Amino acid sequence: MDVLEAIKSRRSVRRFKSDPVAEDLIVQLIDMGRRAPSGRNVQPIEFVVVREEKDRARLAQICEYGKFIAESPVCILVYSADTKYYLEDGCAAVENILIAATGLGLGSCWVAGDKKPYTAEIDAVVGSPAGFKLITLIAIGYAVQTPQSREKRPLEEVLHWGRF
Ligand SMILES: Cc1cc2nc3c(=O)[nH]c(=O)nc-3n(C[C@H](O)[C@H](O)[C@H](O)COP(=O)(O)O)c2cc1C
Repeated sequence: MDVLEAIKSRRSVRRFKSDPVAEDLIVQLIDMGRRAPSGRNVQPIEFVVVREEKDRARLAQICEYGKFIAESPVCILVYSADTKYYLEDGCAAVENILIAATGLGLGSCWVAGDKKPYTAEIDAVVGSPAGFKLITLIAIGYAVQTPQSREKRPLEEVLHWGRF
């Protein structure tokens, strides 16, 4: 799948088959994440891959809107060192992973991390060191069904040439 098609067809997937995801695919996802741009090229992002069922069940319990993490065979936690552009850098890495997952035939869903009151609880599950900020948890797996494409705001409404 080419990159434009992957961007167009990506949807948030919240229902997953129990089929495992091959390790080389997971490694490719992280490889795509680490290639994202970062402010001043600081490259502050770290990725924690959680596959253990009991750990995913605990993450799912903590995340109010991430209960499906218990069913997705993989959950990637994206962390950043506490730098000036930690959030932008983290989100760039996350989006790379979502697009790459679509291209590899995998479903994914972004689950909120940064700004959530539960980040310390998540940190305890994966033993993240002090000074690192949780950006996002990404549920990854094979979709039970690919969701219909969601209406996005029309191009004419969001595109401004020259002046807002
Ligand atoms: C910052 C951010 C936080 C999100 N948090 C959650 C979440 O906690 N749980 C969830 O199911 N989806 C979450 N999403 C996914 C959005 O709900 C989803 O992207 C949006 O509904 C548009 O649907 P689409 O991804 O299929 O285009 C989040 C997305 C972003 C960008």
